[in-house]
Amino acid sequence: MTGTILDQLNRPMKDLRISVIDQCNFRCTYCMPAEIFGEDYAFLPPDQLLSFDEIVELTKSFVKFGVEKIRITGGEPLMRKDLHLLIQRLHQVDGIKDIAVTTNGVFLVRQAKKLKEAGLNRVNISLDAIEDEVFKETNGRGIKTKPVLKGIEAAREAGLDVKINMVVKKGMNESQILPMARYFKDTGDTLRFIEFMDVGNHNGWNMDAVVPKKEIIEMIHEEMPLEPVDAAYYGEVADRYRYKGATSEIGVISSVTEAFCSSCTRIRLSADGQLFTCLFATEGYDLKEKLRSRASIEEIENWLIDLWTGRNDQYSVDRSKEKPKDKRKIEMSYIGG
Ligand code: GTP
Ligand code: 5AD
Ligand code: SF4
Ligand code: SF4
Repeated sequence: MTGTILDQLNRPMKDLRISVIDQCNFRCTYCMPAEIFGEDYAFLPPDQLLSFDEIVELTKSFVKFGVEKIRITGGEPLMRKDLHLLIQRLHQVDGIKDIAVTTNGVFLVRQAKKLKEAGLNRVNISLDAIEDEVFKETNGRGIKTKPVLKGIEAAREAGLDVKINMVVKKGMNESQILPMARYFKDTGDTLRFIEFMDVGNHNGWNMDAVVPKKEIIEMIHEEMPLEPVDAAYYGEVADRYRYKGATSEIGVISSVTEAFCSSCTRIRLSADGQLFTCLFATEGYDLKEKLRSRASIEEIENWLIDLWTGRNDQYSVDRSKEKPKDKRKIEMSYIGG
């Protein structure tokens, strides 16, 4: 049965990204600017969220499409109650080989051990600066780096693989590129620099605020020579480099200056059960409605085959040709990184 679905797909579906909540305890200026995501912002009410049962059910179908890897995102996924119970159940789904979480890290002090025991393999932790004065600005909540650094430590101690994500935005934190590189070269954690993207509708993106991958690499290479490393898997979004003579690595995610849409193997499920094939989509496909209106699994899977084989998203490619579609987009805090 599995073979029949895979045979019908024209590109692999590998990476299922599940958002479990749209709320966050941070207000990063490039993601959830405080003036928009204030006290009266309408976050999703609990009854609209997919239940753990529904997420697990859907995951079993996605495995038939080739998905082996799950990334849990948010908002801040560690704010979803009893997340470890979801991880435990996803870990038991046949065919799932890798479960990762993208988080701002501060709740890891309390949850890392529990999550690891539940079957979590990896965490990607967002940290945009190593100096408090810069970090307090980027996270929009005046939070110092210490709670995040403690979260990173807790993750390591629990035996989780750790990567650090740093969004680089000109005028915000480009001063932190070298200090961050030096810091994480010593700890041995892989640090990934992410070009600031025009996700969502509120972060005031413009090309001048992007620090291109090339500049980031040159800046680091000059002080700490680098050599390229092959991608770890097909569709990996980060280009990898190793410090010469050392084992630690960095990565750069250059979706603005070097789009990677043609190898996009990702599918995204929002916390309220909408399915998206692109980060820059306007609308999703209502999978929750299908599930709750008791469509059969076979109907849902046939619908998914049509959706996946018909996808033609290439937003980042279009942007680089200076013809991005002028449209309302989903928010990154809603669909996850
Ligand atoms: P690994 O499994 O560790 O390789 O993770 P990853 O790099 O796929 O995951 P992560 O969630 O850490 O992604 C890092 C960042 O890359 C995201 O927050 C986005 O900024 C960006 N990114 C990830 N996937 C896409 C994508 O499909 N399109 C674009 N344009 N950017 C993406
Ligand atoms: N550009 C690039 N990455 C972003 N993220 C959120 N907003 C943006 C943006 N405008 C990603 C970061 C962060 C994750 C939670 O979402 O990678 O680590
Ligand atoms: Fe929260 Fe991550 Fe968005 Fe920052 S980037 S506001 S930590 S979801
Ligand atoms: Fe995939 Fe859309 Fe990102 Fe391109 S812009 S890599 S199609 S998610």
